[in-house]
Amino acid sequence: MKRILSGIQPSGTLTLGNYIGAIKQFVELQKQHPDAEFYLFVADLHAITTEQEPKDLRQRIRQVAAMYIASGLSLEQTTIFIQSEIKEHAELGYLLQCHTYMGELERMTQFKDKSKKQTTGITASLFTYPALMAADILLYDADYVPVGEDQKQHLELTRDIASRFNNRYGDFFKVPEPLIPKVGARIMDLQNPAKKMSKSDASDKGYISLLDEETSIKKKIRSAVTDSLGIVAFDPENQPGVANLLTIYASLTDSTIEAITKKYQGKGYQEFKNDLADIVANTIMPIQKRFFEIMGSKELENLLDKGKEAAQMVAYRKVEKCKQKIGLGRKK
Ligand code: TYM
Repeated sequence: MKRILSGIQPSGTLTLGNYIGAIKQFVELQKQHPDAEFYLFVADLHAITTEQEPKDLRQRIRQVAAMYIASGLSLEQTTIFIQSEIKEHAELGYLLQCHTYMGELERMTQFKDKSKKQTTGITASLFTYPALMAADILLYDADYVPVGEDQKQHLELTRDIASRFNNRYGDFFKVPEPLIPKVGARIMDLQNPAKKMSKSDASDKGYISLLDEETSIKKKIRSAVTDSLGIVAFDPENQPGVANLLTIYASLTDSTIEAITKKYQGKGYQEFKNDLADIVANTIMPIQKRFFEIMGSKELENLLDKGKEAAQMVAYRKVEKCKQKIGLGRKK
Protein backbone atom coordinates (compact mmCIF):
# COMPACT_ATOMS: atom_id res chain seq x y z
CA MET A 1 0.00 0.00 0.00
CA LYS A 2 1.35 3.42 -0.97
CA ARG A 3 1.77 6.05 1.71
CA ILE A 4 1.28 9.74 0.92
CA LEU A 5 2.41 12.30 3.48
CA SER A 6 2.42 16.06 3.81
CA GLY A 7 2.36 18.84 6.39
CA ILE A 8 1.37 22.47 6.78
CA GLN A 9 2.81 24.96 9.25
CA PRO A 10 0.39 26.77 11.58
CA SER A 11 2.29 30.02 11.14
CA GLY A 12 -0.69 32.08 9.92
CA THR A 13 -4.21 31.50 8.61
CA LEU A 14 -4.09 29.28 5.56
CA THR A 15 -4.20 30.97 2.19
CA LEU A 16 -5.58 30.26 -1.24
CA GLY A 17 -1.94 29.39 -2.14
CA ASN A 18 -1.89 26.61 0.46
CA TYR A 19 -5.24 25.39 -0.80
CA ILE A 20 -4.29 25.28 -4.48
CA GLY A 21 -0.67 24.14 -4.05
CA ALA A 22 -1.30 21.53 -1.36
CA ILE A 23 -4.75 20.83 0.10
CA LYS A 24 -6.62 20.55 -3.20
CA GLN A 25 -3.98 18.10 -4.36
CA PHE A 26 -4.47 15.92 -1.27
CA VAL A 27 -8.19 15.61 -1.99
CA GLU A 28 -7.62 14.81 -5.67
CA LEU A 29 -4.92 12.25 -4.86
CA GLN A 30 -7.29 10.47 -2.51
CA LYS A 31 -9.77 10.09 -5.31
CA GLN A 32 -7.09 8.86 -7.71
CA HIS A 33 -5.55 6.45 -5.17
CA PRO A 34 -8.36 5.01 -3.07
CA ASP A 35 -5.97 2.35 -1.74
CA ALA A 36 -3.33 4.77 -0.52
CA GLU A 37 -2.85 5.75 3.11
CA PHE A 38 -2.57 9.48 3.89
CA TYR A 39 -0.57 10.98 6.74
CA LEU A 40 -1.25 14.69 7.11
CA PHE A 41 0.10 16.65 10.00
CA VAL A 42 0.21 20.11 11.51
CA ALA A 43 3.87 21.14 11.41
CA ASP A 44 3.89 23.09 14.68
CA LEU A 45 7.57 22.37 15.43
CA HIS A 46 8.39 24.06 12.15
CA ALA A 47 6.27 27.09 13.04
CA ILE A 48 8.40 27.88 16.09
CA THR A 49 11.52 28.34 13.97
CA THR A 50 10.22 31.93 13.87
CA GLU A 51 8.65 33.74 16.82
CA GLN A 52 5.06 32.78 17.64
CA GLU A 53 2.61 34.02 20.25
CA PRO A 54 1.73 30.88 22.30
CA LYS A 55 -2.00 31.57 22.45
CA ASP A 56 -2.25 32.27 18.71
CA LEU A 57 -0.12 29.27 17.85
CA ARG A 58 -2.36 26.91 19.82
CA GLN A 59 -5.42 28.31 18.08
CA ARG A 60 -3.85 27.96 14.63
CA ILE A 61 -2.81 24.36 15.26
CA ARG A 62 -6.47 23.44 15.68
CA GLN A 63 -7.36 25.55 12.67
CA VAL A 64 -4.98 23.70 10.34
CA ALA A 65 -6.28 20.34 11.58
CA ALA A 66 -9.89 21.48 11.10
CA MET A 67 -9.06 22.82 7.63
CA TYR A 68 -7.75 19.41 6.57
CA ILE A 69 -11.09 17.89 7.54
CA ALA A 70 -13.20 20.73 6.12
CA SER A 71 -11.50 20.48 2.74
CA GLY A 72 -13.20 17.15 2.11
CA LEU A 73 -10.56 14.52 2.81
CA SER A 74 -11.79 11.01 3.37
CA LEU A 75 -11.29 10.42 7.07
CA GLU A 76 -11.06 6.64 6.70
CA GLN A 77 -8.08 7.08 4.46
CA THR A 78 -6.32 9.78 6.48
CA THR A 79 -4.31 9.93 9.70
CA ILE A 80 -4.29 13.54 10.88
CA PHE A 81 -1.94 14.45 13.70
CA ILE A 82 0.05 17.20 15.35
CA GLN A 83 3.80 16.99 14.77
CA SER A 84 4.87 18.00 18.31
CA GLU A 85 2.70 15.26 19.84
CA ILE A 86 4.99 12.68 18.28
CA LYS A 87 8.35 13.07 20.00
CA GLU A 88 10.13 11.03 17.36
CA HIS A 89 10.03 13.93 14.87
CA ALA A 90 12.45 15.93 17.01
CA GLU A 91 14.50 12.84 17.75
CA LEU A 92 14.93 11.75 14.15
CA GLY A 93 15.42 15.40 13.20
CA TYR A 94 18.53 15.42 15.37
CA LEU A 95 19.78 12.11 14.02
CA LEU A 96 19.40 13.41 10.49
CA GLN A 97 21.12 16.70 11.32
CA CYS A 98 24.12 14.51 12.05
CA HIS A 99 23.93 13.32 8.44
CA THR A 100 23.33 16.71 6.80
CA TYR A 101 26.09 19.08 5.75
CA MET A 102 26.32 22.79 6.49
CA GLY A 103 26.88 23.46 2.78
CA GLU A 104 23.60 21.75 1.91
CA LEU A 105 21.65 23.81 4.42
CA GLU A 106 23.36 27.01 3.31
CA ARG A 107 22.08 26.44 -0.22
CA MET A 108 18.42 26.31 0.81
CA THR A 109 16.67 29.27 -0.82
CA GLN A 110 13.92 29.35 1.80
CA PHE A 111 16.51 29.88 4.55
CA LYS A 112 18.25 32.52 2.48
CA ASP A 113 14.97 34.37 1.83
CA LYS A 114 13.69 34.18 5.39
CA SER A 115 16.98 35.17 6.97
CA LYS A 116 17.30 38.09 4.56
CA LYS A 117 13.96 39.48 5.74
CA GLN A 118 15.15 39.33 9.34
CA THR A 119 18.48 40.83 10.31
CA THR A 120 18.55 39.78 13.96
CA GLY A 121 17.10 36.90 15.91
CA ILE A 122 17.58 34.23 13.24
CA THR A 123 17.30 30.97 15.14
CA ALA A 124 19.54 27.93 14.70
CA SER A 125 16.38 25.92 14.05
CA LEU A 126 15.51 28.04 11.01
CA PHE A 127 18.80 26.85 9.57
CA THR A 128 18.40 23.16 10.49
CA TYR A 129 14.68 23.15 9.50
CA PRO A 130 15.20 20.96 6.39
CA ALA A 131 16.65 18.12 8.50
CA LEU A 132 13.48 18.17 10.63
CA MET A 133 11.40 18.17 7.47
CA ALA A 134 13.35 15.16 6.20
CA ALA A 135 12.60 13.43 9.51
CA ASP A 136 8.86 14.14 9.14
CA ILE A 137 8.89 12.32 5.84
CA LEU A 138 11.37 9.50 6.45
CA LEU A 139 9.81 8.50 9.80
CA TYR A 140 6.76 7.21 7.98
CA ASP A 141 8.39 5.64 4.89
CA ALA A 142 6.35 7.95 2.69
CA ASP A 143 6.23 7.05 -1.00
CA TYR A 144 4.89 10.41 -2.19
CA VAL A 145 4.95 13.91 -0.77
CA PRO A 146 2.52 16.39 -2.40
CA VAL A 147 3.76 19.97 -1.95
CA GLY A 148 3.91 23.33 -3.71
CA GLU A 149 6.92 24.43 -5.71
CA ASP A 150 8.59 26.24 -2.77
CA GLN A 151 9.16 22.93 -0.97
CA LYS A 152 10.82 21.17 -3.91
CA GLN A 153 14.35 21.94 -2.78
CA HIS A 154 13.62 20.58 0.71
CA LEU A 155 12.31 17.40 -0.88
CA GLU A 156 15.46 17.02 -2.95
CA LEU A 157 17.55 17.37 0.20
CA THR A 158 15.35 14.79 1.95
CA ARG A 159 16.08 12.37 -0.89
CA ASP A 160 19.82 13.06 -0.63
CA ILE A 161 19.85 12.54 3.13
CA ALA A 162 17.89 9.28 2.79
CA SER A 163 20.22 7.95 0.08
CA ARG A 164 23.30 8.95 2.06
CA PHE A 165 22.01 7.15 5.13
CA ASN A 166 21.12 4.06 3.10
CA ASN A 167 24.57 3.96 1.50
CA ARG A 168 26.27 4.18 4.83
CA TYR A 169 24.18 1.82 6.98
CA GLY A 170 22.34 -0.36 4.44
CA ASP A 171 18.89 0.11 2.99
CA PHE A 172 16.70 1.71 5.64
CA PHE A 173 14.80 4.81 4.51
CA LYS A 174 12.36 4.92 1.63
CA VAL A 175 13.48 7.61 -0.83
CA PRO A 176 10.29 9.68 -1.36
CA GLU A 177 8.99 11.23 -4.57
CA PRO A 178 7.68 14.81 -4.53
CA LEU A 179 4.31 15.46 -6.19
CA ILE A 180 4.08 19.02 -7.46
CA PRO A 181 0.89 20.15 -9.24
CA LYS A 182 1.26 21.06 -12.91
CA VAL A 183 -0.93 24.13 -12.48
CA GLY A 184 -0.93 26.17 -9.28
CA ALA A 185 2.34 25.04 -7.67
CA ARG A 186 3.24 28.65 -7.00
CA ILE A 187 0.38 31.09 -6.48
CA MET A 188 1.65 34.65 -6.37
CA ASP A 189 0.77 37.64 -4.21
CA LEU A 190 -2.24 39.52 -5.62
CA GLN A 191 -0.63 42.91 -5.10
CA ASN A 192 2.91 41.94 -6.04
CA PRO A 193 2.93 39.05 -8.51
CA ALA A 194 6.72 38.85 -8.31
CA LYS A 195 6.43 37.28 -4.88
CA LYS A 196 4.75 34.14 -3.56
CA MET A 197 1.39 34.40 -1.78
CA SER A 198 2.26 33.79 1.83
CA LYS A 199 0.36 33.40 5.10
CA SER A 200 3.12 35.04 7.12
CA ASP A 201 2.88 38.25 5.14
CA ALA A 202 2.29 41.44 7.11
CA SER A 203 -0.15 43.02 4.63
CA ASP A 204 -3.31 41.01 3.98
CA LYS A 205 -4.25 42.62 0.66
CA GLY A 206 -1.98 40.35 -1.35
CA TYR A 207 -3.31 37.06 -0.04
CA ILE A 208 -6.70 35.46 0.36
CA SER A 209 -7.12 33.71 3.67
CA LEU A 210 -9.38 30.66 3.72
CA LEU A 211 -11.10 32.45 6.61
CA ASP A 212 -11.71 35.75 4.82
CA GLU A 213 -15.28 36.96 4.50
CA GLU A 214 -16.96 36.54 1.13
CA THR A 215 -17.03 40.27 0.36
CA SER A 216 -13.36 40.58 1.20
CA ILE A 217 -12.41 37.58 -1.00
CA LYS A 218 -14.21 39.10 -3.98
CA LYS A 219 -12.77 42.54 -3.35
CA LYS A 220 -9.23 41.19 -3.22
CA ILE A 221 -9.62 39.40 -6.55
CA ARG A 222 -11.23 42.42 -8.19
CA SER A 223 -8.46 44.71 -6.99
CA ALA A 224 -5.62 42.33 -7.86
CA VAL A 225 -2.79 44.04 -9.72
CA THR A 226 -2.89 43.46 -13.49
CA ASP A 227 -1.47 45.67 -16.27
CA SER A 228 -2.56 48.18 -18.86
CA LEU A 229 -2.61 45.79 -21.84
CA GLY A 230 -6.21 44.75 -21.25
CA ILE A 231 -5.79 41.30 -22.86
CA VAL A 232 -6.54 38.10 -20.95
CA ALA A 233 -3.45 36.17 -22.06
CA PHE A 234 -0.99 33.87 -20.32
CA ASP A 235 2.32 35.70 -20.40
CA PRO A 236 4.00 35.37 -16.96
CA GLU A 237 6.91 37.57 -18.01
CA ASN A 238 5.00 40.60 -19.29
CA GLN A 239 1.63 40.07 -17.59
CA PRO A 240 2.48 38.34 -14.29
CA GLY A 241 -0.67 39.51 -12.49
CA VAL A 242 -3.04 38.20 -15.18
CA ALA A 243 -1.02 34.97 -15.48
CA ASN A 244 -1.46 34.41 -11.75
CA LEU A 245 -5.22 35.00 -11.93
CA LEU A 246 -5.44 32.64 -14.91
CA THR A 247 -3.59 29.99 -12.90
CA ILE A 248 -6.02 30.36 -10.00
CA TYR A 249 -8.96 30.20 -12.42
CA ALA A 250 -7.63 27.08 -14.18
CA SER A 251 -6.85 25.30 -10.95
CA LEU A 252 -10.20 25.93 -9.28
CA THR A 253 -12.27 25.06 -12.34
CA ASP A 254 -10.05 22.21 -13.58
CA SER A 255 -10.01 23.80 -17.02
CA THR A 256 -7.05 24.62 -19.23
CA ILE A 257 -5.49 28.06 -19.45
CA GLU A 258 -6.10 27.97 -23.23
CA ALA A 259 -9.83 27.38 -22.79
CA ILE A 260 -10.06 30.29 -20.36
CA THR A 261 -8.09 32.77 -22.48
CA LYS A 262 -10.32 31.82 -25.41
CA LYS A 263 -13.44 32.43 -23.32
CA TYR A 264 -12.30 35.97 -22.47
CA GLN A 265 -10.98 36.87 -25.91
CA GLY A 266 -11.96 40.43 -26.75
CA LYS A 267 -13.26 41.02 -23.23
CA GLY A 268 -11.61 43.23 -20.63
CA TYR A 269 -10.28 42.36 -17.20
CA GLN A 270 -13.43 43.37 -15.38
CA GLU A 271 -15.59 40.48 -16.54
CA PHE A 272 -12.73 38.03 -16.06
CA LYS A 273 -12.07 39.26 -12.53
CA ASN A 274 -15.76 39.29 -11.60
CA ASP A 275 -16.15 35.68 -12.71
CA LEU A 276 -12.98 34.65 -10.90
CA ALA A 277 -14.14 36.44 -7.73
CA ASP A 278 -17.28 34.25 -7.80
CA ILE A 279 -15.28 31.09 -8.47
CA VAL A 280 -12.88 31.70 -5.57
CA ALA A 281 -15.69 32.63 -3.17
CA ASN A 282 -17.76 29.59 -4.23
CA THR A 283 -14.76 27.35 -3.51
CA ILE A 284 -13.88 28.81 -0.14
CA MET A 285 -17.28 29.50 1.45
CA PRO A 286 -18.48 25.85 1.70
CA ILE A 287 -15.08 24.85 3.17
CA GLN A 288 -15.36 27.68 5.65
CA LYS A 289 -18.85 26.60 6.71
CA ARG A 290 -17.64 23.07 7.48
CA PHE A 291 -14.53 24.49 9.14
CA PHE A 292 -16.55 26.44 11.72
CA GLU A 293 -18.70 23.40 12.48
CA ILE A 294 -15.62 21.26 13.04
CA MET A 295 -13.67 23.79 15.10
CA GLY A 296 -16.08 23.58 17.99
CA SER A 297 -16.76 19.85 17.78
CA LYS A 298 -15.67 16.83 19.76
CA GLU A 299 -15.00 15.12 16.42
CA LEU A 300 -11.80 17.11 16.01
CA GLU A 301 -10.43 16.05 19.40
CA ASN A 302 -11.27 12.41 18.75
CA LEU A 303 -9.68 12.48 15.36
CA LEU A 304 -6.48 14.04 16.63
CA ASP A 305 -6.31 11.49 19.47
CA LYS A 306 -6.73 8.67 16.99
CA GLY A 307 -4.17 10.21 14.65
CA LYS A 308 -1.67 10.60 17.43
CA GLU A 309 -1.97 6.97 18.43
CA ALA A 310 -1.57 5.68 14.88
CA ALA A 311 1.37 7.92 13.99
CA GLN A 312 3.12 7.22 17.29
CA MET A 313 3.28 3.52 16.65
CA VAL A 314 4.90 3.87 13.25
CA ALA A 315 7.29 6.61 14.35
CA TYR A 316 8.47 4.83 17.51
CA ARG A 317 9.46 1.68 15.63
CA LYS A 318 11.28 3.58 12.92
CA VAL A 319 13.38 5.67 15.30
CA GLU A 320 14.31 2.69 17.46
CA LYS A 321 15.54 0.83 14.38
CA CYS A 322 17.35 3.93 13.14
CA LYS A 323 19.26 4.26 16.42
CA GLN A 324 20.24 0.60 16.20
CA LYS A 325 21.55 1.12 12.67
CA ILE A 326 23.68 4.05 13.77
CA GLY A 327 25.05 2.07 16.75
CA LEU A 328 23.54 4.21 19.51
CA GLY A 329 22.72 2.85 22.98
CA ARG A 330 22.92 -0.82 23.87
CA LYS A 331 22.36 -3.66 21.44
CA LYS A 332 18.89 -5.18 21.63
P1 TYM B 1 3.90 25.71 4.35
O1 TYM B 1 3.19 25.60 5.64
O2 TYM B 1 4.64 26.96 4.06
O3 TYM B 1 2.90 25.47 3.16
C1 TYM B 1 2.03 24.34 3.14
C2 TYM B 1 1.87 23.82 1.74
O4 TYM B 1 1.35 24.86 0.89
C3 TYM B 1 2.20 25.05 -0.24
N1 TYM B 1 2.19 26.50 -0.57
C4 TYM B 1 1.90 26.99 -1.77
N2 TYM B 1 1.56 26.40 -2.93
C5 TYM B 1 1.31 27.19 -4.00
N3 TYM B 1 1.39 28.55 -3.94
C6 TYM B 1 1.73 29.19 -2.80
N4 TYM B 1 1.78 30.51 -2.76
C7 TYM B 1 2.01 28.40 -1.65
N5 TYM B 1 2.36 28.70 -0.38
C8 TYM B 1 2.47 27.52 0.27
C9 TYM B 1 3.58 24.60 0.23
O5 TYM B 1 4.42 24.27 -0.84
C10 TYM B 1 3.22 23.42 1.09
O6 TYM B 1 3.03 22.26 0.31
N6 TYM B 1 7.98 23.02 5.33
C11 TYM B 1 6.59 22.94 4.93
C12 TYM B 1 5.75 22.13 5.89
C13 TYM B 1 6.30 20.77 6.15
C14 TYM B 1 6.19 19.65 5.28
C15 TYM B 1 6.88 18.59 5.95
C16 TYM B 1 5.60 19.44 4.03
C17 TYM B 1 6.98 20.40 7.25
N7 TYM B 1 7.33 19.07 7.15
C18 TYM B 1 6.96 17.32 5.39
C19 TYM B 1 5.70 18.15 3.46
C20 TYM B 1 6.37 17.11 4.14
C21 TYM B 1 6.03 24.35 4.87
O7 TYM B 1 6.55 25.25 5.47
O8 TYM B 1 4.89 24.48 4.16
